[in-house]
Amino acid sequence: MNIINYFKPSIGNKEARAAYNVVKSGNLSSGKITRKFENLFLKKLRTKSKKSIAVSNCTSALYTVLNSLNIKEGDEVICPSLSFVADASTIKMLKAKPVFCDIVSEDNLNQDISDLEKKITNKTKAIIIMYYAGYPCNLDYLSHLRKKYKIPIIEDACHALFSYEKKSYLGTIFDYGVFSFYANKNMTTGEGGMIICNKKKFDFLKSFREHSIVDRNYNKLNYKVNELGFNFRLDEIRSSIGIQQLDNILINNQIRKKIALYYLKNLKKYLPFIKIPFENMIGKKYSYHLFPILLPRKTSRQKFVRYLKKNGIFVSMHYPPIHKFNFYLSKAPLNKTNDVSKRLISLPIYPKLKKKEINKIIEVIKNFFE
Ligand SMILES: Cc1ncc(COP(=O)(O)O)c(C=O)c1O
Repeated sequence: MNIINYFKPSIGNKEARAAYNVVKSGNLSSGKITRKFENLFLKKLRTKSKKSIAVSNCTSALYTVLNSLNIKEGDEVICPSLSFVADASTIKMLKAKPVFCDIVSEDNLNQDISDLEKKITNKTKAIIIMYYAGYPCNLDYLSHLRKKYKIPIIEDACHALFSYEKKSYLGTIFDYGVFSFYANKNMTTGEGGMIICNKKKFDFLKSFREHSIVDRNYNKLNYKVNELGFNFRLDEIRSSIGIQQLDNILINNQIRKKIALYYLKNLKKYLPFIKIPFENMIGKKYSYHLFPILLPRKTSRQKFVRYLKKNGIFVSMHYPPIHKFNFYLSKAPLNKTNDVSKRLISLPIYPKLKKKEINKIIEVIKNFFE
């Protein structure tokens, strides 16, 4: 039986060659190639007012940004619960409190900005927004909040690599953007991340990535350290892979869009009782990182997953809500998050997914419900 994986990275010979060349060169740690990757990434995002900093992963990007905002014990940071745990763990690492926000509805799994506004207090020091599957949230309302409350906004754009809305790429709109290049992302370096920030914050964030070392003087063989720092560098090997990945990201996003439209058409035709979040947004210039569906309430998700697996199809689910994890337990009434997280499934979506595989996925789902 042919297996349909949940994801396959779009990576091949040119990435292998680029990595090989770096290994042969002997220059392995962060250097010229990492700087080139940072510049090309920024150029592709078409933002002139921002800077880019390559880091070891997005968790370190989140930590670096939150730390630079001097988030500390007693502070609150608002973040989604229907997201990856790193959005909350990085807040906790700084001893602050994650305040979880509900989603809009089963049609829109992004943060509900009106719920977010209700959660702003005088302890709120930052807001993390996560663009679920790469779809924008209510950006106008968010801009209004930013002006009204003067709280910095961090865009977790891990799902939204090169999602375009209102003449900007997501991750470049507010104060900070953070990206992941983990293996299942729309572009990958295996592990890796990027921070997008304003010019004013650049030097501080960049030096934190490198033990907060400043004033490096090669003649005197000396440097200074005035702050706490870390090693969150991205090496040359991964950066060389990232450069190659950047070449194909827009075309790969277009292929993902076609797959999303195909799923939409066929699921609506044959399985109209399956809810497709973001249905009305499919077709725009977004990243289509995930294809989420919601099973009917009476359907056993476990049986569904087992049936698909028996037929060679692997699916996933994004995410177990953070506020339900033991370490983060919160009694916040996140009713919509609680409801959808029991019914969510992410179907395979990646450029290497073939039409006949998509047809098989739809056929197997149809058989399950028959
Ligand atoms: C939404 C979201 N935020 C943060 C992260 C953390 O990224 P990384 O794995 O690069 O640390 C991920 C990674 O999967 C993610 O999907």
